[in-house]
Order: sequence, then C-alpha cells, then structure tokens
Amino acid sequence: MRLLFLGDIVGRSGRHAVVEALPGLKRRYALDFVVINGENAAGGFGITEAIVDELIEAGADAVTLGNHAFDQKEALVFIERQDRLIRPLNYPQGTPGRGAALIKSGSGAEVLVINAMGRIFMPELDDPFRAIDTELTACRLKEGADAILIDFHAEATSEKQAMGFFVDGRASAVVGTHTHVPTADERVLPSGTAYISDVGMCGDYNSVLGMDVDEPVSRFLTKIPRQRFEPARGPGAVSGLAVEIDDKTGLAVRCGALRIGPNLEPAEPAFWTE
Ligand SMILES: [Fe+2]
Ligand SMILES: [Fe+2]
Repeated sequence: MRLLFLGDIVGRSGRHAVVEALPGLKRRYALDFVVINGENAAGGFGITEAIVDELIEAGADAVTLGNHAFDQKEALVFIERQDRLIRPLNYPQGTPGRGAALIKSGSGAEVLVINAMGRIFMPELDDPFRAIDTELTACRLKEGADAILIDFHAEATSEKQAMGFFVDGRASAVVGTHTHVPTADERVLPSGTAYISDVGMCGDYNSVLGMDVDEPVSRFLTKIPRQRFEPARGPGAVSGLAVEIDDKTGLAVRCGALRIGPNLEPAEPAFWTE
C-alpha cells in the first residue's frame, strides 16, 4: 500500500498548493491513501466544513487536526457529521468528534487513522501515550486494520521520538506535525514503523511558520501584539511523507520526504518512480 501524509495546510496558499498538486500526485505515484493535516487551513486558524469537503474532493481520504481544531467554532458542530475529520484523541472526554477512525481506501483496505497531541509546550490534554496504547490494543495491525497511521501533533522532538519508539512495530507510520518545519530524520524504525519528527507544512515558506513575517518579527522586537497573524499569501509548497507499506504485515518497507514548490528544498520518493 502506498500512503501519503501531508503536513499542516496554512491558509489559502497551502490550500491552493494541495488542491492543485494532489490529483497529479495520486496518479503519478498510484497512491492508495492520503491523509492531510488541516488544522490551519482556514486563514491560519482551524478549518471550515467547506474546506473539509474541498480537501476530500481533491483526493484526501482523511483530514487530521491539532491544537487549532476548534478555532472555527462551527467545527464543534460539523465535526460530528464529517466522519473523515479526526481531532486529537486525548482531548477531554465529551469533546465533539473522534480521535481515531477506520477508513476504507479505494482498493478496499481498512486504514486506522489516529490523531493525538503532545503535552510539552502545548495545552495539557490527557496522556497521549496511554490514549494511543488503548487504541492500538483495541485495533491491532492486520487484525483490526490493514494499516495504522498516527499523526502526532507535538512541539518537542523528544516527545515525538519517544512516541515513535513506543508504537514501533504496532503502527505503520508515526508522522509529526505542528512545528511547520520539515525535519530530515525520516526512516523506518527497527520494528517497522515509518517515522519523521515533522513533515513540515503546506503553505508559503516565505513566512514565519506560514504567517506573514511582519507581525511575528514585530512581536519578538516589542512584545506587543499589533494585529492578527495573517497567513503569507505567496505561492505555496506541499510537504509530506510518502510511506510504502507491506500488505502482508501492515508495517513500513520504506519512507521518503515529498516536498514540491518554492522556497523549499525539493524532495521526491524516488523509490516509487525508479
Ligand atoms: Fe499547525
Ligand atoms: Fe498545531
């Protein structure tokens, strides 16, 4: 199975880049399953139902979220009827929506998609390690699901690496999101889980984490907020992780960064084009 995960979409630049590139990527690499983090898709803050529909229309099988999940208050309502939209699992009990979903791919394979949030330099949610352990115990690889993808939305690389090793051999892939900057540590861990600390964002990289540079620079200099953070509006890039999964075991065979667009070192999963 060929799986592609794309990092946090930031604003219109990110949405346009993804919607434009995704149909071609699906054809070029014969992708079986696509997951996109959409927590910053609506003007940098949260997601609207129209954007969820647009991403699914463009070819996403699932959309994950993070600390910005409910910045657009309408998400508290529409998340209940959008069964491919997944918010962090470790929000308090009673939070609308779901933290994990079993989704059928075009070829009929069942993929468990889990979203969880770290707790270091982040809002203190429930323990993500125990929450994920409970999910993986209830739905084991190749028993309950053909593949399992975890979007671990966290700030600290230590917490992300610890999560990778915690689930190594029990999930197909752990992809880090939230920092919006791609890391160069993608690999398959010893027991077969593909891992990257952060896949990077989809958006305008001529920016501070996708936002127009003026306000972030001004806040560092003066410590006084002057205006809202606005997404940068230049041409967007697409950044993610490509994972090839062994259909027999559900574990990763190899993985590679996918990065296309301006202001970003290009990368391509060459193992799919050789
Ligand atoms: Fe984000
Ligand atoms: Fe985030």
